[in-house]
Amino acid sequence: MNYENRKLAVNAFEKAYGTSLGLRVFFAPGRVNLIGEHIDYNGGFVLPCALSLGTYAAVRLRSDSLFCFYSDNFADEKIVECDLNDLKLIEGKTFANYPIAVLLALKDNGYSIEKGLNIAYYGNLPINSGLSSSASIEVLTAYICKVLFRLDLDNITLAKICQQAENKYIGVNCGIMDQFTIVMGKADHAIFLNTATLEYEYVPVNFTDSNITLVISQTNKKRTLADSKYNERFVSCQKEKAMYNVENLCDLPSLPVDASKIVRHIVTENQRTIKAKEALENNDFELLGKLMNESHKSLKEDYEVTGIELDTLVETAQRQKGVLGSRMTGAGFGGCTVSLVKSENVDSFIKNVGDVYREKMGFRADFLSVNIGKGPCEV
Ligand code: GLA
Repeated sequence: MNYENRKLAVNAFEKAYGTSLGLRVFFAPGRVNLIGEHIDYNGGFVLPCALSLGTYAAVRLRSDSLFCFYSDNFADEKIVECDLNDLKLIEGKTFANYPIAVLLALKDNGYSIEKGLNIAYYGNLPINSGLSSSASIEVLTAYICKVLFRLDLDNITLAKICQQAENKYIGVNCGIMDQFTIVMGKADHAIFLNTATLEYEYVPVNFTDSNITLVISQTNKKRTLADSKYNERFVSCQKEKAMYNVENLCDLPSLPVDASKIVRHIVTENQRTIKAKEALENNDFELLGKLMNESHKSLKEDYEVTGIELDTLVETAQRQKGVLGSRMTGAGFGGCTVSLVKSENVDSFIKNVGDVYREKMGFRADFLSVNIGKGPCEV
């Protein structure tokens, strides 16, 4: 598997730069969040996993100060260049702004990079679908710089720098969940992360032994305003936090009687995530599924980040045979859902949910059965 993907990254490099000599190839995963949504910027607990799908990059050092970026997933953009001596974002929309944002954030943190690179990315993660393809390319780029330029950079600092890249340069006020999960991912484990303190625990995920498959369903909805809507929720939480005079909304010890819908989601989602971690530890997948269903309801009715596409996928999924739980995952506003499905029912799940979705929405959903993978590495 890795070998094939390595080859695809090398092919991409060859296509862009005309040679495949002397390359090194690196990988960083995507992530799926099991539960704990929109609370990583409120100091809450989250329970995400890294995926075995992700982004690969074939890389070669240059002797000058130019960084050249090519992505097989955005092949029409050709090669995007950026000089280390004049580091700035490219005007307009380009995938290359994610790695450039990372170079800028590394520089802000005093990490100096002297030489340029030719990089070709190839990802097998659906792009812009809520599985963190952007955090994957960010972490991958930072990891490549760490290895090739021998930066004294521990994993958690690396995750924080990638989050800063996203906050300061991409302009999304995201929490640390995605970058942290991608850096710290461990095969067949979820990460129970306290986003206020960054203390974390690996929780074994025994889905396969219990014949359960983790199925991702993609809405295929264009997420044009997702970033601005995300930032709106962030601002609402900041205002609520100031009203309650707490450092983080998740510090509220219980649900205030007069809580707004926003606060109700944040407080109850945090409580559900703590219960879900225990359920996962006890292999109580019925309970985990129930908490996932409740999480979706809260994201739909209280936090209002779902929409007809996600609701159709989730509510249809929840009615299928062999489904223990289903919810939107990631930022929402489109993107994808995650469902716990008994393995023997996966085929009928995909057929039935796919049919209902296409009938209702007029376009198709895509489905992926995924495995929980590890963090970045050289392949
Ligand atoms: C996006 C952000 C994360 C997190 C999720 C919602 O993926 O990047 O920090 O807030 O949305 O849980």
